[in-house]
Amino acid sequence: MDSMVRAHKYAVVTGASSGIGWELASILAREGYGLVLVARRTGPMRELADQLQQAHGVPSVVVGADLAAPEGVRTVVDELKTHQLDVEVLVNNAGFGLAGSFEALPAEQQMGMVDLNIRALTSLTRELVPGMVARRRGYVLNVASLAAFTPGPFMSVYYASKAYVLSFSTALHAELKGQGVTVTALCPGYTETEFAARAAEHQKARLFSGPMGTANARQVAEAGYQALKRGKPVVVPGFSNRFSAWFMPLAPLALRLRIAGYMNASEH
Ligand SMILES: NC(=O)c1ccc[n+]([C@@H]2O[C@H](COP(=O)([O-])OP(=O)(O)OC[C@H]3O[C@@H](n4cnc5c(N)ncnc54)[C@H](OP(=O)(O)O)[C@@H]3O)[C@@H](O)[C@H]2O)c1
Repeated sequence: MDSMVRAHKYAVVTGASSGIGWELASILAREGYGLVLVARRTGPMRELADQLQQAHGVPSVVVGADLAAPEGVRTVVDELKTHQLDVEVLVNNAGFGLAGSFEALPAEQQMGMVDLNIRALTSLTRELVPGMVARRRGYVLNVASLAAFTPGPFMSVYYASKAYVLSFSTALHAELKGQGVTVTALCPGYTETEFAARAAEHQKARLFSGPMGTANARQVAEAGYQALKRGKPVVVPGFSNRFSAWFMPLAPLALRLRIAGYMNASEH
């Protein structure tokens, strides 16, 4: 098993048990990458690993890890060391949002969001980028969001976490120029996945009934992969989302806060 595992170039995909991460893993397998699949639920990832082996003949290593926990990233890094894998692609996709007012949402879940969306993403990037730079070959794809382009009342921590991902990723993209390593921020609009169910646990935001339209996880993942391959710093899939990403930073702050606050507030 181990010699077969080592024969491939490798991609680590966090949040591979559903949604955009599942689709990104499938696309990377199609492109010939062996996969390191990371999330808390190992059942769906084992099923995915079998599918990828059958469809594309690529091996996968399934890593069950809670990336919001302090030892989560260490578990992934230890697994890479055990299998002696040099990672060519890192996809930091695991993340979640929570709709509701800041003071009412459970503090533990809010801090978990910071730990996952920001700390784990930064830490895994810090662990894997030095090897990529040493080999002068690597791609990092960080999943941000359209939410990265404006502050978002009633999803304040989530929007701020994605603004961090966009800022961090584009800065690192510039820093690594000429070293054979690119960093791409993928900024999807509302996409049909398990995201909404978790985000609406405390408050059903207007956004989740899809007034701005919904995207398909496969199309979002494909846009992310194409941008990664071209080494683009940012990709916003979908025309109306691209318009929003262009328009939002130009609009007055008061207007942005009203629009985002309206979309994130409860329908009732
Ligand atoms: N869907 C949208 O509308 C949308 C829009 C913009 C950006 N995004 C971003 O896209 C990314 C993927 O989300 P998605 O839409 O595909 O949602 P999803 O279907 O809920 O997928 C989220 C993934 O993250 C994993 N995850 C969650 N908590 C984790 C933890 N503590 N440790 C390890 N893995 C964890 C989940 O697996 P387990 O539960 O098995 O751990 C799952 O595989 C997220 O960063 C999200 O913020 C989504």
